[in-house]
Amino acid sequence: MSSAIRFDNRVAIVTGAGGGLGRGYALDLAARGASVVVNDLGGSFDGKGSSSSMADAVVAEIKAAGGKAVASYDSVSTSAGGKAIVESALDAFGRVDVLVSNAGSLRNAPIDELPDDTLDAMIEVHLKGAFNVARPAFRLMKQQGYGRIVFASSAAGMLGNEQQAAYGAAKAGLVGLMNILSLEGAPHGVKANALLPTAMSRMAAAMDPKLMESAGALYAALGDKLGNSADPSFVTPLVVYLCSEACDSTHSIYSSTLGRYARAFLSMGEGWVGPRMEAPRAEDIASHWAEICEKKGAVELASLMDEFAVVARQLTAG
Ligand SMILES: NC(=O)c1ccc[n+]([C@@H]2O[C@H](COP(=O)([O-])OP(=O)(O)OC[C@H]3O[C@@H](n4cnc5c(N)ncnc54)[C@H](O)[C@@H]3O)[C@@H](O)[C@H]2O)c1
Repeated sequence: MSSAIRFDNRVAIVTGAGGGLGRGYALDLAARGASVVVNDLGGSFDGKGSSSSMADAVVAEIKAAGGKAVASYDSVSTSAGGKAIVESALDAFGRVDVLVSNAGSLRNAPIDELPDDTLDAMIEVHLKGAFNVARPAFRLMKQQGYGRIVFASSAAGMLGNEQQAAYGAAKAGLVGLMNILSLEGAPHGVKANALLPTAMSRMAAAMDPKLMESAGALYAALGDKLGNSADPSFVTPLVVYLCSEACDSTHSIYSSTLGRYARAFLSMGEGWVGPRMEAPRAEDIASHWAEICEKKGAVELASLMDEFAVVARQLTAG
């Protein structure tokens, strides 16, 4: 058994911590000694309305269990909101060590029926929302030489899910943010990872009924094997580990799905090395298509420069 994972003297911000997955992260971090900013706008699953009651309830729960927490009701969707969330950590606890960028809402539509306001709302809350909080938090982490950030991305964007173009694209964008923040944070002790969670939360219940039907059928087919694994609490341990000093991982994507925890990665095949002096024609691409698509010999890539290094090795080999 590994030694206990503790967050004594650490300050954590969890956005969207008034319910669902975020609530579980905030409760566990606080139970392990962290001082927690419980941020939640307190609106509906689709991001409409606001109230202080969701964040307040989680703060009360943490305090009742002997933990330390303050509520924040700012929206992550604006730059001013992001700054205010980080300010509330500084005001209450004097530093920021951990950020779980988790707040979000859901609106689904087929691409050809996607209204502008849905597209804007999804980009604002998920993609810009993460930037809005991560930028001021990152500055502090860089200064102090320590930080842990987890971005809640989604398989809907990284793998694809019908009707979720706006949500999925915004979520996939978070992997781009994580890739770059983790490289820039590496010399300063700041580690960042992305999460692909799955859990039966309020948001999941608001999915398209057809999608819910397929998920329901899968769950039913699993019977006893499903156990309680669709509960948000099953995602918590992975996130808490990624937020801890014990975690050395950075620049990675992790999935938590029905109690199965796994790293996801981007790899590239050896491909076809074309002519050197004159660019090939589209017909050459067509005739080498099988080599271009071959998975054998694929390697994992950790940055844009990694890909150049691989191609340079291929060109100079033999
Ligand atoms: N549940 C899943 O299966 C699943 C799958 C993939 C990704 N996710 C992501 O995980 C995160 C948590 O989702 P959840 O399932 O717990 O849903 P949830 O709706 O229960 O929780 C999201 C929380 O974010 C809050 N929020 C919404 N807009 C906000 C804003 N502008 N500022 C601050 N808070 C705001 C909501 O009030 C809510 O409490 C989300 O980012 C979601 O996209 C969830």
